[in-house]
Order: sequence, then structure tokens, then C-alpha cells
Amino acid sequence: MKKILPIVLLCVPLLSNAQQPLLIPDTLSGTTINLSMHKDSLQILPGKKTQTMAFNTFKYLGPTLILQKNSTVNIHVLNSIGDTSSVHWHGLHVAPTNDGGPHTAILPTTTWNPSFKVMNNAATYWYHPHIHMKTTQQAMLGLAGMIIVRDSIEATLNLPRKYGVDDLPIIVQSQQLDTLNQINPRGMVDSIILVNGTFNPYTNIPAQIVRLRLLNAAGERNFNFGFTGNKTFYVIGNDDGLLSAPVATTRIRLSPGERAEVLLDLTGMNGQTIYLMSYASEMPMGVQGGPTMPMPPGSPPMNSSLNGIDFNILKLNIGAATASPVTTIPTSLVSITPYAASSATLTRTINFSADSLLVMDGPFYFNDSSFDMMHINYRIPLNSTEIWRFTNQTMVSHPFHIHDVHFFILDRNGISPSPKEGGAKDVVLVEPNDTVRIIMKFEDFADTTTPYMYHCHILMHEDDGMMGQFVVTPNTTGINEVAGKMDDLQLFPNPAHQSFTVKSKSVIASVMTILAMDMTGKQVYKATVNAKEQTIDVSHWARGIYAVSISNQEGTTVQKITVE
Ligand code: C2O
Ligand code: CU
Ligand code: CU
Repeated sequence: MKKILPIVLLCVPLLSNAQQPLLIPDTLSGTTINLSMHKDSLQILPGKKTQTMAFNTFKYLGPTLILQKNSTVNIHVLNSIGDTSSVHWHGLHVAPTNDGGPHTAILPTTTWNPSFKVMNNAATYWYHPHIHMKTTQQAMLGLAGMIIVRDSIEATLNLPRKYGVDDLPIIVQSQQLDTLNQINPRGMVDSIILVNGTFNPYTNIPAQIVRLRLLNAAGERNFNFGFTGNKTFYVIGNDDGLLSAPVATTRIRLSPGERAEVLLDLTGMNGQTIYLMSYASEMPMGVQGGPTMPMPPGSPPMNSSLNGIDFNILKLNIGAATASPVTTIPTSLVSITPYAASSATLTRTINFSADSLLVMDGPFYFNDSSFDMMHINYRIPLNSTEIWRFTNQTMVSHPFHIHDVHFFILDRNGISPSPKEGGAKDVVLVEPNDTVRIIMKFEDFADTTTPYMYHCHILMHEDDGMMGQFVVTPNTTGINEVAGKMDDLQLFPNPAHQSFTVKSKSVIASVMTILAMDMTGKQVYKATVNAKEQTIDVSHWARGIYAVSISNQEGTTVQKITVE
């Protein structure tokens, strides 16, 4: 019944079969980075130009930022798109005020100036806007770019790193264009694949070992990457770092937001042509890009012509080798130490849900609740290690992403992950009915006022509320300890029965904010008082241990109290 639409869209690429040279984004590096966001337009298909948004001199997407670990970068982001925006450094471990989430809006015509030390290991990261309910629109219109972090360990490895020559940025997106060639940011009938913003691309590549930095920057589609003829390649890096050793494989599946660095050995292939492909026919139904699911009446169209088929993404025309090519695949890379499950102090369970089991386009929820800018979902003590356990009770898969930290996948349905995803990550795909556990450590940046986000990286799911936020609380040794600063505060009696009192030894009253949360991070009490002491009624609190955080001008202290 809804067959007419995909047929019309299928015809569009046929009108413009000419292949385009792959655009290799220019780079920006050094300690001062200037970005400006603006509206533009791009000739993607013949006929009408496509309205876009882009950074700097680009018509779509933005420059690749090359950052050096341990250097401090000063970034200026000028917003000239005529709407509120923000820029988030996806994967970078930075303070929440530098993170570019929805609480760090850049108003139109203003400049945001984050400055931070690059603490991440060498890997491929990216940047994109993050304003709540505007991320899909702005990112899909073209506001995105790659970040390459280099470090001294990666520099010692015999890996290709000549940007644009044997080390290629590969930003893969899909788009749904309407009959006037305009982007439908939430469209699920995508038929156009863009690589670095280039439609129907080819690139010349030397006959030697090359490195591809694959980034899935699509709004919803998963890609099951491989090469023509099932050529073997080597995965060397996950989202946030290199693996301990290359992993030989013929496929790497990346969900929206995920990255992988791969090595491809083209030695002796001068004159040949191969394609980077997506073997989407191998993906199960429910993983977006796999076969289209039967649609209940009233669902929006989602029967993309790309679903469930294998298709070409990028043509590689293999030419002569360069002067000093890399000719061997390294046997080992870096040493990584995943966190031990036994080091976790807490397991949080997050269930992915929807209003009904038939919902395929959203809204989706974490634990049945929708994102609320004014509600902090979790308060996590600095330096704690936590396991987050995801269950997915919806019909579709969701790529879970968290800011601030990298994580390691502990298991999927009890089974350890493949070595291909055994490194540091910040996105993990959770398929329908799966249970996935990850482990991470919240280090370095405590700030009780600006939260970090966690969300589904399907952009319209995120905008529709499949997002939550957490703050890292300033307690260097966990909630059992007292932070050094405000040791003139007393909590008594402890254990408490009917009530307890927070008392300052100081003789003058001061404004203090008292917050109490249970061991799941749920807030049970909050008050701001101007007093020397405050008594808190706990007669209706469940028995257990609570973390009480008290803030005044001097700082914040967190103490533990037991309610019996
Ligand atoms: Cu790539 Cu919170 O985002
Ligand atoms: Cu992010
Ligand atoms: Cu989702």
C-alpha cells in the first residue's frame, strides 16, 4: 500500500549516477580552534540545492579537529544559524561546563568559549549540537565533524597516519530528501548515503595498508560495514581508544554515534577497485537498517529501499603505493585494563520502554520516564565505579551513549563481547530483548550544578525524551567518607530514627542547601535554609543508608547517614 513512495525515491539516485570525488574535510589543529556555525546549501542531487547547516567554510559538516592529548585547547564557537544551539565533543572527557550539552546553550550571534585539557587517548571522536529537541534538526542538516586525538603511545606504533592519504576520515550518514531535495531530519525512508557529505563517492587510495576512521553519524541507521568480496580487514580501535591488538574480521557493525578504526591491506592491488559496503541484509529485523518490520496501521513510513539489502558506500580506486608505506599489520597495539566487575560499588538498571510494544518510532523512555531538564536522574559520587545494566523491552534497537566517561562492555545476555568491541567505548547498541551490562568510572570532574547526559543516539529518540542526566558529586572517596572541606558540620544522631540534625559549628547562620538521596541516587529531601542547624524528619523514610550532601559558599560535603 505504501509502495509508491520508495519507488519514487529509488529513482532519484539513478538520475545522477556520476560518481563524485570524496571530500576530505580540512583540518584544524593547535591550541586555538575557531568554529562558526552557519546556514548554507549544497548541491546533493541535480535540481534544487539542499538547505544545510555547516561549520566554517563548509557547505555541510565541518573541519576535522586534530587534538593532541595533554594539550589545552581554547575553542571559540560562533553561532550564526539564527537559532539556539550548542556543540558537544562526543567522547571527550571534559568538565560538564565544557561538554556542550543542552545546559550550555549558545544563543544566536553569540560565541561560546570552552577551554579544556585533552585527556582522552588517541582515537576518533566527533562533535555535533545537543540542544534538547533541536539536535536532530541541526545535526541532520549538517552540523557535525570529526575529532582525531593523537597521543604519544599511538605515535610510536607503525600505523598509517597521513590524513587524507593513507588515514581517511569516513563520516557515513543517510538522508531522506523530499521531492524538492530538502532534508527530512526525522525521515525513516532514507535513500541517500553521504560520506563526508559526498553523495555517490569514490576516492583514490594507495596500494598499501590504509586506515579508515569509520564514524556512523546517521540519525537512525545502523551500518554493517565490510568490503567487496568479504575482504578481511583489521579492527584496531573502538570509540575511545585503540584495542590491545588488531582483530581480523570481515564485518564491523556500527550504530549511530559509534566509531571504529580499521586497517585494510591493499598491498599489490594497484589498478583494482573495491567498495566499502554495508551488508545490511545480515542485520536482524528491529536493528534499524535490517529488514523493514511489518508496520502496524498508523505508523509513519519506514520502508526505506536501503533496508535489508547490501549496498555500496564508498568506491576505492586503488593506485600506486606512496613513498614509505606501512606494509605490516602490527601484532599488538596498546595495553588496556578494563575495569573489573568486582570494583563496582553499584549497579543501576535502565529499562528501555515505550507506551506499547507496537511502537516503532517513539517516544521511547528510560525506566518509563521522559527527559526533564529540571530533574537530575542520578547523583554519582566522584571516583565511583558503576555497572549499568540495560534491558530493552521495545521492538527496536537503541544505541546507548553516555557523556563524560568511557566504558567497557561486560556482557550481552551474559556473554562477553567480541574482541572487536573489547576496547573503551561510549556507545553500545542494545537490541530488542537483550540485556547489556557496561562498567565505567566517574573520574576528575565533579560539579553538582551542570549535569552530563546519557541518551539513545538515535537522534529523534533522544529529542523525544530518551535521555537522562547525572551529576558527579564532589566526594573524592565515595559516599562513606567526609570530604575534607567543611569539617565543621555535624550530622547526628547516626543512625537516625525519627530525625537527624545537620549542625554547623560556626556561630553565624549561613545559607546551606541540604540534599539527601537513597542508594539508587533518588532524591528524598531537599531544602535551602539560612541557619546554623536544621533538623530533618526521617520517620517516613525507608530504612537504609542515605547520602546527605550539604553545600554552602565553602563547597559541598557528602556524608552517609543510616536510617533505622
Ligand atoms: Cu553524540 Cu550526547 O551525543
Ligand atoms: Cu556524547
Ligand atoms: Cu532509541
